[in-house]
Amino acid sequence: MKKLIVGNFKMNQTPEESKAYFMRFVSGFTGNRADVVLCPSFLSLPVASFLAKGSLVKIGAQNVSDEEEGAFTGEVSAKMLKNAGVEYVIVGHSERRNKYKETDKLINKKIKTALKNGLKCIFCIGESLTDRNTGKTFEVIRHQIEEGVRGLYENELESVVIAYEPVWAIGTGQNASVKDVENAAKVIRKVIFESYSEKASRDIQVLYGGSLNEKNVAALLNCPGIDGGLFGKISLNVNAFLDIANNLK
Ligand code: PGA
Repeated sequence: MKKLIVGNFKMNQTPEESKAYFMRFVSGFTGNRADVVLCPSFLSLPVASFLAKGSLVKIGAQNVSDEEEGAFTGEVSAKMLKNAGVEYVIVGHSERRNKYKETDKLINKKIKTALKNGLKCIFCIGESLTDRNTGKTFEVIRHQIEEGVRGLYENELESVVIAYEPVWAIGTGQNASVKDVENAAKVIRKVIFESYSEKASRDIQVLYGGSLNEKNVAALLNCPGIDGGLFGKISLNVNAFLDIANNLK
């Protein structure tokens, strides 16, 4: 199976800059080595989905409201995203858990709302440096998964991708080791096995994210149990990211 490569642009790129990026990426992407989802800001979604239409490039959003519709100032609904050509949404990113105080409960509600509206979720989990230093990594990620997928039916998991992103590895230039990632993938699949089934634990897509770059990508994405990667900083460099997506080993 092809690997899944996800680019999270975070709060970068104006719509005009996204236009230039997508023109370049869509025309350069071969789709031979990987599936790609690009997640620009909300405001860039219309131009991104227009330019990606009919290509192999899929569009994702970086956030979604837990509410369906109504008096929720500043929120963007799953239905709006779907209508704008969005296929995936990132939920539970550590930047949202930490700075915007998103709880496991809220994340669970966002996942349910997104799935109900036909969006796929890239559900992020990962331990902090303190968790890691106190030996709590597996306990923390187990808890995040159990709470995040609470109440989902097994068939709904087909639309959920779990991204293991240790908080200490995000934007720090300090990626996790192959062994760390392999062990985390094992724990993730074990939790899904215990909550669902052997089949679900095998089928669920698991990504690694955190300071991925052209040098470490091959080793980290080919470690056992890993189906792809979630890229932040490097995904903003269109040529570097195209190179990764087109030439993944
Ligand atoms: P990074 O971000 O690649 O810049 O570390 C990854 C992420 O936050 O998804």
